[in-house]
Amino acid sequence: MKALITAGGRGTRLRPLTHSNNKHLLPIANKPMILYPIEHLRDAGITDIGIIVNETRSEIEGLLGDGSKYGVKITYIFQDKPLGLGHCLKISEGFLRDADRFVMYLGDNILAKGIKEFVDDFKNSSNNACMTLVDIKDRERLKSLGVAEIKDGRIVATEEKPQDPKPNHLAASGIYFFDGNVFKAFNGDGAIKPSARGELEITSGVFRYLIEHDYKVGYYNITGWWKDTGKMDDLIDANRLVLDKFDGFKNEGTISSTSEVEGDLLLGKGSVVEKSQILGPVVIGENVVIKNSRIGAYTAIGNNCVIEDSEIENSILMEGAGLTNLKNVTGSLIGFNAKINKFVSKEIKKNGGGPDVSRIIVGDDSVISLA
Ligand code: DAU
Repeated sequence: MKALITAGGRGTRLRPLTHSNNKHLLPIANKPMILYPIEHLRDAGITDIGIIVNETRSEIEGLLGDGSKYGVKITYIFQDKPLGLGHCLKISEGFLRDADRFVMYLGDNILAKGIKEFVDDFKNSSNNACMTLVDIKDRERLKSLGVAEIKDGRIVATEEKPQDPKPNHLAASGIYFFDGNVFKAFNGDGAIKPSARGELEITSGVFRYLIEHDYKVGYYNITGWWKDTGKMDDLIDANRLVLDKFDGFKNEGTISSTSEVEGDLLLGKGSVVEKSQILGPVVIGENVVIKNSRIGAYTAIGNNCVIEDSEIENSILMEGAGLTNLKNVTGSLIGFNAKINKFVSKEIKKNGGGPDVSRIIVGDDSVISLA
């Protein structure tokens, strides 16, 4: 089997972080997001992978290369405009044609358990296509997703971002399975047309076509957690969920005797922790400096960050970021090389004070000095 991963799109809901980065390269627990689908596919035995890229292709190609570093073989497929997930499939026909069956995996989806059991089943299944479904109780949340209705083990109806979700609607996660019949949806008189938002849709386009043309469309239930990292809070949630699974202690740096560590921790080479407290799970990259600070649970700190006289938890600091004199930072995303400093007088510091910052979302290379 082959696979197609999407890594194009606009990433508008993650601005300002996606002004300067392709969203699929943003780190979750210090690992670029796109590596999660690649690893899940590889672990399911699929190593021939096409990746949809846009004008930021050099960033993705720079990280992944030909894929050999990650045990896979990558073919890049360029999409010049984000014309929809159906369009991603359409332009990948040349790559996918010789695979009898294949998986399409949205590059911004992360799930706990991987997809091996679905891949193993689909290989020998009589279904022409399958969706992966998640039972989401929050009806509001369904308005931003594709949904499906099931009957007798089949998908019988689909809709994209329903205005008024029905009680029996299940959410479509971004992992799909197809055989070669799917390409019929793009050819001939009955070919699917762009939706009102100008996209060739997957749920209300491709899947609806297959259902209406009597192809067998099945589904798999996702049981562990699943995240579509479309928005800021989703990134922080995904970071927390991945760190929650992390279990261990590895110190390749230096922790001074004046520091305290509790819980799971990964401390990279050349990193130094002085007069600080760490409450895991926490991952810290290489050449990081942490002084007089408290790093709370579910924090991921990228390489070359500097944190001094600060308190942070449940947050993502991207490579090269810096924090000085900031207290109570939580649920925050600090972009690559962004520096945030607060001037605090000696007097205030002596009294244990400092500004009460709660939530910061800062784009790459920003410099913020608070007085
Ligand atoms: O995450 C699950 C949801 O993903 C499904 O429930 C929806 O049915 C499905 O349409 C999709 O909805 P989103 O609104 O989240 O799709 P988004 O535009 O964010 O794109 C998802 C991924 O595909 C992301 O990796 C960006 C990439 N993409 C998107 C478009 C529209 C492309 O590579 N090219 C595109 O043209």
